[in-house]
Amino acid sequence: MSRTALVTGPTAGIGHAFAQQLAARGYALVLVARDEERLEKTAAELRASHGVEVEVLPADLTDRADLARVEARLAEEARPVDLLVNNAGFGLKERFLDNSADAETAMLDVLVTAVLRLSHAALGPMAARGQGGIINVSSVAAFLPRGTYSAAKAWVNSFSEWAAHEYRPRGVTVMTLCPGFTKTEFHERMDVGRDSAPAFMWLDADSLVATALADYDKGRVYSIPSPQYKAIAAAARLVPNSLLQRFQSIGRK
Ligand SMILES: NC(=O)c1ccc[n+]([C@@H]2O[C@H](COP(=O)([O-])OP(=O)(O)OC[C@H]3O[C@@H](n4cnc5c(N)ncnc54)[C@H](OP(=O)(O)O)[C@@H]3O)[C@@H](O)[C@H]2O)c1
Repeated sequence: MSRTALVTGPTAGIGHAFAQQLAARGYALVLVARDEERLEKTAAELRASHGVEVEVLPADLTDRADLARVEARLAEEARPVDLLVNNAGFGLKERFLDNSADAETAMLDVLVTAVLRLSHAALGPMAARGQGGIINVSSVAAFLPRGTYSAAKAWVNSFSEWAAHEYRPRGVTVMTLCPGFTKTEFHERMDVGRDSAPAFMWLDADSLVATALADYDKGRVYSIPSPQYKAIAAAARLVPNSLLQRFQSIGRK
């Protein structure tokens, strides 16, 4: 029987690579993002290339009513979702005090509240069925002191690591994916160029997701693709935050 994956942010970057690779594995898909036209275009491409069923669910994850529609889809008993990929996200270019509190709150809504509410909606039915999985897309920034974005991603790591151990005995796999700088629209949307970090630091979204799915198959709790970011995550546990904070401008200029 075909499995279904719900992917947030599947129209660009890392989420698009997840949608393509999951479709190639035969998953039917539910695609969630704001831009409906782009969602329909992505859905048509996936149906044509992989012959899978694709539903589009336009939603702004900062909007509680929209979020509730996505939660309701995850809770539908008749059309179970086997894998939830909480991927949608964005960053803010400016430092904390140069952003409005509303802009900061919108970022927190997408990076944290949506991850919490969608995980809550998915975990109940998955645990009841004794099978399913969640991939929460965090960031290597979670290990570093880089403002509220890092703080939000640190919440994702802490929550997902806990959930991985809590729900594994009930048949549910929860994995945290921590990408480093990845060539997507993320930095363009922040109006930040690729020259803001050295070339060797930039990852390709397709290979990142291939590694992530291989780690998910192995039941890993964390996936940190590429050796340079594994080293950064390990070193960050040893170096004091006051020293690490000196490097917080990398990738933001
Ligand atoms: N790229 C990197 O260097 C990098 C590094 C570490 C972690 N990450 C994380 O990876 C994830 C994916 O980022 P990406 O680089 O692939 O970004 P991206 O290329 O900018 O794609 C973002 C996706 O999220 C959707 N989205 C944005 N805001 C949304 C909202 N309010 N409601 C619903 N959907 C929304 C976008 O579609 P719409 O605009 O149509 O809504 C789009 O499909 C994020 O969680 C990000 O924090 C990225």
